[in-house]
Amino acid sequence: TIQGFIFDLDGVLTDTAEYHYRAWKRLADELGIPFTREENEALRGIPRRESLLLLLKGRTYPEAVLSELMDRKNGYYLEFIRELSPRDVLPGARELLQEIRAAGLKTALGSASKNAREVIERLGIAELFDAVADGYSVTRQKPAPDLFLHAAALLNLPPSACVVVEDAEAGVEAALAGGFYVVGIGPQERVGRAHIVLPSLAEARLSDLCQQLLHYAA
Ligand code: G6P
Ligand code: MG
Repeated sequence: TIQGFIFDLDGVLTDTAEYHYRAWKRLADELGIPFTREENEALRGIPRRESLLLLLKGRTYPEAVLSELMDRKNGYYLEFIRELSPRDVLPGARELLQEIRAAGLKTALGSASKNAREVIERLGIAELFDAVADGYSVTRQKPAPDLFLHAAALLNLPPSACVVVEDAEAGVEAALAGGFYVVGIGPQERVGRAHIVLPSLAEARLSDLCQQLLHYAA
């Protein structure tokens, strides 16, 4: 039976995926590197350093410059998230978190972002999580399962008793690799490998999710 839920943050609970895009776009513009919204799709769920390397498209820079570029992007991102408030929680997300907790199940955050704690504080949902796994928690990033395994361990639950909710292809792969149930948020092309695919959390009810996931129980 399902005893816990692990939520990705950016693009699942709030639309910070858009702010990540705008911050990378500003950096790319400054460097004179073309960068489109479509290209940004490939960066969903990808950590800061790997994202920068993808954006640079093979251009090489000394390590000190790479560090400066990552700091610059993060500075832009921090400017955007300073504006975040409880109104920026995506439709259905808070309700689902509350429903899960009311049912006596556990909740964890599983985000690759080093800014995850600040974001959930600003959104006013920090107290809805029993555990937080973020960009500081593990070395190997998604699509490796490490971050979600760490989150499950913090909840004291085996992966087979947990559902991961993800909007990124790398995140869906990470969850599958770890032996979790997966709910994918977004288009089929991106999260189609998940057990359940939803356009958003707006209509997500705990009982429906659990019932549908039971079909996949081993
Ligand atoms: C999440 C986002 C990515 C972001 C990564 C690292 O996975 O989906 O777009 O690059 O976190 O975030 P950070 O806030 O540490 O730069
Ligand atoms: Mg995400």
